[in-house]
Amino acid sequence: MEKLIIEGGYRLKGTVAVSGAKNAALPIMAATLLTDDTCIIKNVPALRDIDTMVKILQALDVKAERNGQNFIIRGTCSRVKAPYELVNTMRASVCVLGPLLAKKKVAEVSFPGGCVIGPRPIDLHLKGLEMLGADIKIKSGYILAKADKLTGTKIYLGGHFGSSVLATANTMMAATLAEGVTVIENAACEPEIVDLANFLISMGAKIAGQSTPTIRIKGVKKLHGTTHNVIPDRVEAGTYMLSGAITKGDVFVKNARAEHLMALIDKLRECRVELYERKDGISIVGKKGKIKPTTVTTLPYPGFPTDMQAQMMSFLCLADGISVITEKIYTERFIHVSELSRMGARIFLEGPNAIVNGVKKLSGAEVMASDLRASAALVLAGLVASGKTSIHRIYHLDRGYENLDRKLSGVGARIWREKE
Ligand code: EPU
Repeated sequence: MEKLIIEGGYRLKGTVAVSGAKNAALPIMAATLLTDDTCIIKNVPALRDIDTMVKILQALDVKAERNGQNFIIRGTCSRVKAPYELVNTMRASVCVLGPLLAKKKVAEVSFPGGCVIGPRPIDLHLKGLEMLGADIKIKSGYILAKADKLTGTKIYLGGHFGSSVLATANTMMAATLAEGVTVIENAACEPEIVDLANFLISMGAKIAGQSTPTIRIKGVKKLHGTTHNVIPDRVEAGTYMLSGAITKGDVFVKNARAEHLMALIDKLRECRVELYERKDGISIVGKKGKIKPTTVTTLPYPGFPTDMQAQMMSFLCLADGISVITEKIYTERFIHVSELSRMGARIFLEGPNAIVNGVKKLSGAEVMASDLRASAALVLAGLVASGKTSIHRIYHLDRGYENLDRKLSGVGARIWREKE
């Protein structure tokens, strides 16, 4: 096992390039199951979660081969079981359910387990597929789904929290091969869903309304192979924007798309961060002044993303006053709070609210990464803390940030890996 060491206190300066979006690439890779033809998916980041999806495709007898940043996925899936050992390591594995059901009429996918960021039910995934005509049973920890035929219908995919990203993905993928028209109401509008819809359209699917809460899918008989370029990762981009802001550095985040980051940009401007939207990225110009505190509420897109909550918290730890962060998507996603407190942060939790009292400085400490975005938050805190921060269990980071330490070193951070 490795740990990450950061010597804090250096202003970051230079250009850091954003990789392809993990959360767009994963469902897109699953969607290749909908065709027997070859698909080429470009701009796929080298991450542990992507490796897990490859293993799942291989378990289904599909060949997935990496060639640099691209994946060539070919072959007909002849098996329909996504086993516990793989699904258990990555919840996004559940997105093979919709494509398998639509293509093979039967799917056997391990029921995803709990997760450190809180309970993550899949009732909406099952609702979407059942409304299309699937018969679904849970047996021995597996979702057993079958359908002789899927038929389009109107589906309201909502819960008390709003829309669901991967439930929308699963239902949309299954509906591409259903008979007739499916209308998904309260669909997720996340850029990753739009990217998936565009991928499916390039395979011959008939989809309209992606990026709105009403997605309309007219089923087709067959989908064909295609080539697709995955969108840049908005969460990775946001994390690097904050690395510039927190170190009062001067960082150009190449490939960051402002239109995917409006909520974060708006909050950073409110906090008096100077940033510029360029054609090919976003520039953060660090200023010596104080960070203005703010309130942040996580919401489905285009609201402030829950995947940026922990990183934003690290930044607000150093604001000149009290900030309030309300987590509405995963109300228990606050494990990073105790680790940030070890570094001198003053944060109090009250249900889904974190009250962040700004402090003058953070100091380096031994801390533990608990999940992907919490790890990124600790890295940001380490960049600005005085002295040395050691982050243990960084395998979480490798699930979702491609070469994070190398990219940050490239803009002047003192960051390296050591064996535990
Ligand atoms: N929910 C239900 N029932 C369902 C599905 C979701 O109640 O059937 C609830 C969840 O408990 C949560 C809310 O709906 O309260 C939203 O969850 P959503 O389904 O949208 O999350 P997801 O699709 O499972 C994706 C990302 C997550 C990201 C969330 C929210 C992928 C692979 N994962 O998960 O990313 O936090 O959307 O934006 O796309 C990450 O990358 O670190 C990560 C956790």
